[in-house]
Amino acid sequence: MLIIKTNILNPISSDKVEFLPDTFISISDTKIESISKNIENRDFTDYSDSVCIPGLIDTHVHLSQYYVRGRHNSNLFDWLDNCTFPEELKSKDPQYAKKVAKDFFKASVKAGTTTSVIYTSPFKEACDIAFETAEKLGVRAIIGKTMMDTNSPEYLQEDTETSFRESVELFEKWNKKTELLEYVFSPRFAPVCSSQLMKMIGEFAQKNEAYIQTHLSENQDEIELVKKLFPKYKNYTEIYEKLGILGPKTLLGHGIHLDNEELEIIKNTESKIIHCPDSNFFLKSGVFPFEKIKKSGIDFALASDAAGGTSISMFNVMKMTCYRQDDYTVSPEEAFYYATLGGAKVLGKEDIIGSIEVGKDADIVFLKIPEQNKYNCSELLSKLIYVNEEVEIISTLVAGRKVF
Ligand code: GUN
Ligand code: FE
Repeated sequence: MLIIKTNILNPISSDKVEFLPDTFISISDTKIESISKNIENRDFTDYSDSVCIPGLIDTHVHLSQYYVRGRHNSNLFDWLDNCTFPEELKSKDPQYAKKVAKDFFKASVKAGTTTSVIYTSPFKEACDIAFETAEKLGVRAIIGKTMMDTNSPEYLQEDTETSFRESVELFEKWNKKTELLEYVFSPRFAPVCSSQLMKMIGEFAQKNEAYIQTHLSENQDEIELVKKLFPKYKNYTEIYEKLGILGPKTLLGHGIHLDNEELEIIKNTESKIIHCPDSNFFLKSGVFPFEKIKKSGIDFALASDAAGGTSISMFNVMKMTCYRQDDYTVSPEEAFYYATLGGAKVLGKEDIIGSIEVGKDADIVFLKIPEQNKYNCSELLSKLIYVNEEVEIISTLVAGRKVF
């Protein structure tokens, strides 16, 4: 049993955060056993000079792109062709794949992220290595091999059968192998995936209750290309719907330029939208209609989308979420919620992670905010988001185990 005295900053809803100063958290094995003002046991770790928050959740990040964060290009397709695709090829070399996986996960826990939903590259061994690395470090991760079987550079393109078979093999090897690891089928996006591949993924995922992730409606050129490649569909979202890859466990990256009909499809299929504000800034993709999506009742959450995003820090993502909107003010409470409990909700894991509550897994980050004693709850929260470069992360726990 581990007992810690600290100050808890906890998301309650998208509009509400609670602050519990001088509180004892007791952790038994993987779970939070109690949260109380007093404790009989005198034997506790004193973190009263720190604040603790639930582990941050990054619901869309490209591990194999970790080293090319911030490499400038003026738009999505140039960036993919000139920077991203050649970088993903490097992970064909297992030594390179090992190094990037290790560096990625180390930086991730150091930045307070405890759960990540990850694309790797189109190489089976690189995905295997990412899982091994996550397992060794003890992080919570949902990982998939990026799939692309058409219209792709020759050096990344797979044939349809191989792409599907290797993904199924990885699913069978890793999905729920431990409490912390799951597999996500990862057809990159419609421009590089055949209808046949998407259909096979949809059927398998539905039968096996597997996660699926892809990109949707990120960029105008992408939308134009998709119209040409799939002329018989009414819109981009309908392609995914008709090919069977939408559902409650489907995570749709971006979703910036969707019309009302498309939002209706997403809502009806209970698919989720993943908002990646830093990436949208960096690649000039457009402005995510935050208020409209919130009002639509579609579940959504935040993500770094590194290396489309320049940073894997969810503190940076929260700040960018607030900055990216022109006509709507995202509150610090909202940004915090969609990087924690809201992230857990899109993954169907709000009973396990996302906030510091009795019975949940102990995914917790301890951090120091300069002069924190001076501040009330909302001041602390806005410091945490807007002045995040001054926040010092002391320790990160995943399921009660120290990973940083
Ligand atoms: N669309 C297809 N692939 C990618 C990718 O790797 N990053 C981003 N941001 N968008 C994509
Ligand atoms: Fe992405």
